[in-house]
Amino acid sequence: MPAPAEHSIYALEEKDAEAVSSLESACFSTAFSPEQYRRILHIPPGRGAPFLGLGLFAPARNLRGYVLIGLRRAAREAEVYNLAVHGSCRRLGLGAMLLTRALRAVEVLSIEQVFLEVREGNHPALALYSSLGFEFCNRRRAYYADSGEDALILRLYTAPGHAGQRTIASNHKGKFDENTHGGQLENV
Ligand SMILES: CC(C)(COP(=O)(O)OP(=O)(O)OC[C@H]1O[C@@H](n2cnc3c(N)ncnc32)[C@H](O)[C@@H]1OP(=O)(O)O)[C@@H](O)C(=O)NCCC(=O)NCCS
Repeated sequence: MPAPAEHSIYALEEKDAEAVSSLESACFSTAFSPEQYRRILHIPPGRGAPFLGLGLFAPARNLRGYVLIGLRRAAREAEVYNLAVHGSCRRLGLGAMLLTRALRAVEVLSIEQVFLEVREGNHPALALYSSLGFEFCNRRRAYYADSGEDALILRLYTAPGHAGQRTIASNHKGKFDENTHGGQLENV
């Protein structure tokens, strides 16, 4: 397996559709098909694109992780639709590196808030999001049909001007129970 430093991050392109779909199938119980990904990724990244997709590649464009973010530019909001790192290279800091890069990219697009939805029992993902400053925002009870699990909605403010809120700039390792705005995870 290549060392973390040998991985590169590039914008996903239509030609990556098959690899993204395959990695998604390996990491989640349901996955978009290659054709669905072709439709998403055929729009070149840029100011008009409704999605931001970044891939984490080992040498020879070997996809090891990806993040897909939906952009609601008018509302200055974005939503992380999916983030995954291949099972063979987890806990190397690659997921954090990929998401941090994506968050910087959305910040440049004047996005002020980033939301995401995560299974309550997905402890690795919750730990990663917490470490990047995401905080509890809402809960959707019994949201996942397969397990009946609740979905937790997390939010990160990207822009300055939200006094007291944690932002990318003020990003630090922390726990959800430090949250003073959305309540504690345990209490909702
Ligand atoms: C969640 C996921 C993307 C994390 O990717 P990763 O590359 O392993 O994460 P990183 O190595 O960058 O971890 C960064 C931090 O997240 C936390 N973390 C990640 N995995 C963890 C685990 N298994 N247990 C506890 N904490 C974990 C830690 O705080 C870690 O920092 P540390 O290693 O310094 O302690 C990966 O586990 C994955 O692809 N899971 C399956 C798909 C998924 O659930 N995606 C999220 C959907 S909402």
